[in-house]
Amino acid sequence: MELNPTDLSYAQEMDQQDKLAHFRSQFVISEPDTIYLDGNSLGRLPASTMPLLQKVIEQQWGERLIRSWNEGWMDTQARLGAKIAGLIGAQPDEVLVADSTSLNLFKLATAALRARPGRTTVISDEFNFPSDLYILQGVIDLLGNQHELQIIRSKDGLTIDPQAVQDSLNEHTALLSLTHVAFKSAYMYDMARITEMAQQAGAWMLWDLSHSVGAVPLDLKGCNADLAIGCTYKYLNGGPGAPAFLYVRRDLQAQLLQPVWGWFAAKRPFDFDLQFEAAPDIGRYKVGSPPMLSMLAIEPSLELFEQAGMAQLREKSVQQTEYLIHLAEQWLLPLGFSLGSPRQPGLRGSHVSLRHPEAYRINRALIEAEAPAVRVIPDFRAPDNTRLGITPLYTTYVEIWRAMQCMRQVTEERLYERFSSERLPVT
Ligand SMILES: Cc1ncc(COP(=O)(O)O)c(C=O)c1O
Repeated sequence: MELNPTDLSYAQEMDQQDKLAHFRSQFVISEPDTIYLDGNSLGRLPASTMPLLQKVIEQQWGERLIRSWNEGWMDTQARLGAKIAGLIGAQPDEVLVADSTSLNLFKLATAALRARPGRTTVISDEFNFPSDLYILQGVIDLLGNQHELQIIRSKDGLTIDPQAVQDSLNEHTALLSLTHVAFKSAYMYDMARITEMAQQAGAWMLWDLSHSVGAVPLDLKGCNADLAIGCTYKYLNGGPGAPAFLYVRRDLQAQLLQPVWGWFAAKRPFDFDLQFEAAPDIGRYKVGSPPMLSMLAIEPSLELFEQAGMAQLREKSVQQTEYLIHLAEQWLLPLGFSLGSPRQPGLRGSHVSLRHPEAYRINRALIEAEAPAVRVIPDFRAPDNTRLGITPLYTTYVEIWRAMQCMRQVTEERLYERFSSERLPVT
């Protein structure tokens, strides 16, 4: 018998067939009736992270104390970098875990602009995460306002026309800095094509992979990518504020000099030379002592990604975002929602935005629902996006079905009217 996707039995059958379903039990799920669709903002806690941190605190910090730096801590930034390299198609010695995404952008963008003297424009797009645009503005200011930041606009609010990127590039362009998967619409650039455009214009290409890593397969080597940054607390489940990563292609590492000359970036930090000499390799993109507890908390989830494989995760992610959109088309579009993400899966990352004039209050009603009602946790991105993150390591089809039912009920019965439209600090 052919099952109807709008029936719960269809979702149950899809979960039965799901080859990745067993990964869900590797996460702490303390409220089974809370449907978490915000793993694209803060990933769930892997079950093995807590015992690992307990052990690290007791043994590595508590017992071994300072000796732990020589017993593994000092290599952690590179070791985790090598694991992330495996997820993004880079070489193990091209990636480093360090600092925050914003700071890594500052370091790489400054290094890139200083290595293209005479070029006067920095190009980005209106979908870029504001922190990235602010950092670029700050870098331009710091370098004496010799560059102009130009922002590519979207024609449809969902996608950026690659031709508009091409048209923005010329012999004046120093740097093209883009987020690969846009944080609001989930629009995904063709990395190989755009990278080539930037390089043909003689500009640097810098990708922010925060919404891509662990969400879509990436091939930085195949794209000959120059520079990239990204965070580990979203799809990679590294924990709140977990250290970020950066990528510098091997042949560029010794050419570019990042501006924060901390002792960890030095060639021989423990010589304590008075004069800075940068490490010759990816190590020069470090700054100072890494936060070891937060750093080590990233590792358990990376092992899950290695086991699951990005191709399989992407396959499930596409099936699940397609399923979610299908249900939204049946149930939510007639209630005033519109799709805030590209309809073609090839142009989309692993989240889906649904737009509605009352999106903020609808989100509040979903999050604050009281038992026995099912609670759904998406997030809200101004002005009107409910953003639903699909994290195939732990999102089930039944959760998607139930979440869409809840959104339908909250909207149809106007349950959101009980909530204030006054925004919380974090939305
Ligand atoms: C695409 C993107 N870039 C940069 C950032 C900022 O990252 P951080 O707070 O780690 O500096 C975020 C935060 O969500 C983001 O989504």
